[in-house]
Amino acid sequence: MDFNYGISEAIAKASGIDINEIKDTLEIPANGEMGDYAFPCFKFAKIMRRSPSLIAEEIADKIEKPDFVSKIQTVNAYINFYIDKSIFVKNVITNIIDKGNDFIKSDIGKGKTVVIDYSSPNIAKPFHVGHLRSTVIGNALYNIYETLGYNVVGINHLGDWGTQFGKLIVAYKMWGNKEAVEKDDIKELSRIYVKFHEEAEKDPSLNDEARSWLVKMQEGDKEALALWKWFCDISMKEFNRIYDRLGIKFDSYAGESFYNDKMAAVVDELKEKNLLTESRGAQIVDLEKYNMPPCLILRSDGGTLYPTRDISAAIYRMNTYDFEKCIYVTALDQNLHFAQWFKVIELMGYYWADKLIHVPFGLVSLGDGKLSTRKGHVVLMEDILNMSVEKTKNIIEDKNPNLENKDKIAEDVGIGAIIFDDLYNSRIKNVVFDMERMLNFDGETGPYAQYTHARACSIIRKAGVNKYEDIENIDPLLICDEASVNVFKVLDEFKYKIQEAAEKNEPYIVTRHIIEICKAFNKFYNENSIMNSEENVKNARLAVVMAVRDNIKVGLEIIGLKAPEAM
Ligand code: ARG
Repeated sequence: MDFNYGISEAIAKASGIDINEIKDTLEIPANGEMGDYAFPCFKFAKIMRRSPSLIAEEIADKIEKPDFVSKIQTVNAYINFYIDKSIFVKNVITNIIDKGNDFIKSDIGKGKTVVIDYSSPNIAKPFHVGHLRSTVIGNALYNIYETLGYNVVGINHLGDWGTQFGKLIVAYKMWGNKEAVEKDDIKELSRIYVKFHEEAEKDPSLNDEARSWLVKMQEGDKEALALWKWFCDISMKEFNRIYDRLGIKFDSYAGESFYNDKMAAVVDELKEKNLLTESRGAQIVDLEKYNMPPCLILRSDGGTLYPTRDISAAIYRMNTYDFEKCIYVTALDQNLHFAQWFKVIELMGYYWADKLIHVPFGLVSLGDGKLSTRKGHVVLMEDILNMSVEKTKNIIEDKNPNLENKDKIAEDVGIGAIIFDDLYNSRIKNVVFDMERMLNFDGETGPYAQYTHARACSIIRKAGVNKYEDIENIDPLLICDEASVNVFKVLDEFKYKIQEAAEKNEPYIVTRHIIEICKAFNKFYNENSIMNSEENVKNARLAVVMAVRDNIKVGLEIIGLKAPEAM
C-alpha cells in the first residue's frame, strides 16, 4: 500500500484535480501534529475561483476517508491527514522486509536511457578539485537514476585532443626527458606544460610550432601520435588511481579524440542546413538572434573546436543510445558553451535538443591556505584524498585504537567525508574545503552517517542476529511510539526523495535525507532501550534497527560512500 497514492486518489475523486498534480502537491509536514500528510490548496484558488480555505473545506467534506486514515482535518488552506499508526508501521515494515535493499527502488525509468557525461578531465593536465566535483556529482546521479530503473550510461568525455598536445610535444622535446616523465608522470607533464606557457610569452613562435604538431597529429604522423598516446596513458594511470579510490566506474571512455573521424560529416551537415557563416576566416554559427556570441565550429586553419566535438558527440550518443536525457556535469563557467551548442542542435532541427541537460555546479575553494596552489606547485587530487585519510586515521587512533582494519576504514571514512561534503548542498553553491568540518563526527557529515550505520550494525551484532528472518515475530503494534513511527516515516519518504533528486538532478536531496534517517534513528535509540526490554519488544525494536541499517547503507552507496560495519 502506498499512502501517498491512496490519499492522492481520494483527493482526486473528491475534487476532480489531476492525480499527478495532487501527488506533487501533497506534503509531509515537519511537525507531526499537523498530520502525517498535508494538502495545501493555495495554487488551486485561481482555477477554482474560490479562496484556498474554502476549497480545503469543500474537498474535505466530499472526501471518502481511506481505511488507513484515522482523521482528516482542515486548518485554513490545508487538509491534514492523520494516518492510523499501527496500519502505517505494519505496512512499511512488511514492505521493507519483503523488498530488502530494493525497498527504495522503482521502475519509473524502465526502458529509458539516461546518458551522463561526467568527470571528463583533460589529459596531461592535473585532475583538479573541479573535476572531483563533476566526478562525485555525476556518479551520484548515475546511481540515483539506476535506482529508479533507468538504463544509465556513464561517459568519461576525456579531454584527449586539442592544442594542449601540440604544446606538450614541443615542451617535451625542449625541456623534458623520458626518465623524468616516467618517474613523476603527471607532475612532470604539468611542469613542462607550465614552462611552455611561460616561455611562449617571451617567444610566441613556440605557439606556431605547437600548432604544427597538432596538425601533424591530425594528419596521422607516427611520432606525434606515439607521443600523444604515451601522454594519454600516463594521465589515465593517475586518473584511474583516483577513480579506484573513489569507487567510480564508467561505461565509456569515448573522449574528444573519439570524434575526430566523425566531425567532417557534422560540419557538412551544418553547411547543408545553411547554418555556417564565415567570420575572419573561421566558420561559425551566428547566434546573435538568441543573444549569444557565435558558436565556433572551425578555426581559420581548419582545426575543430570544443563545441564541434560536443555537437558531434551528442549526435553520436543519440544514435547510439537513444537517450531520454543526456546530462552534462560541469562547472558553472561552462554555461555559455552548453547554451550555445544546445542551440545549434536545435537549429539543426533535432527534435531531441531539449533532452540535453547541462547540470552545472559551483566553485571549490581550498579554504585556509594549507591546500592552496603555491606558484609552480599543483594541488593534486590525490594529495587531498591522502590528507583526509591521514586525519581520519588520527581520529581513529584517538577514539578507537583497537579497531580492526584501521587502514581500510580510514580510507572509507576519509574519502567518504569529502564526497559527502561535496553533495551536502545544492550543486550551484560554492564548496569550501574544510577538513575540520567534513570530518566532524557530530556534524551533518559523512563520518556521522557512517558512524550511525556502524552503531546500528553493532547493536544487531550484540543481539546475535543479522537478518529479519533471525528475529522471531516482529509485532508492529510494539513500535508505534512517536520515535519509532518517525523512523518509519523518513524511511518511507526515501523513495520520493530519490525521485525528486532525479527530477532536479540534485544529489543533495538524497544526502540530506540520509541525515534525516540518522537523526530519527538516534532519537529512537535514545528513547528506546533495546537489549533490556522484554523479548517481544526487543525483537520489534531490532527490526527498526535493521531497517535503518540497511537503508543508510543503500543511501550511502547511492551517493558514493562505503558503509563500514564498525568504526
Ligand atoms: N574536459 C572538460 C573540462 O575539463 C569538461 C568536459 C565536459 N564534457 C563535455 N562534453 N563538454 O573542462
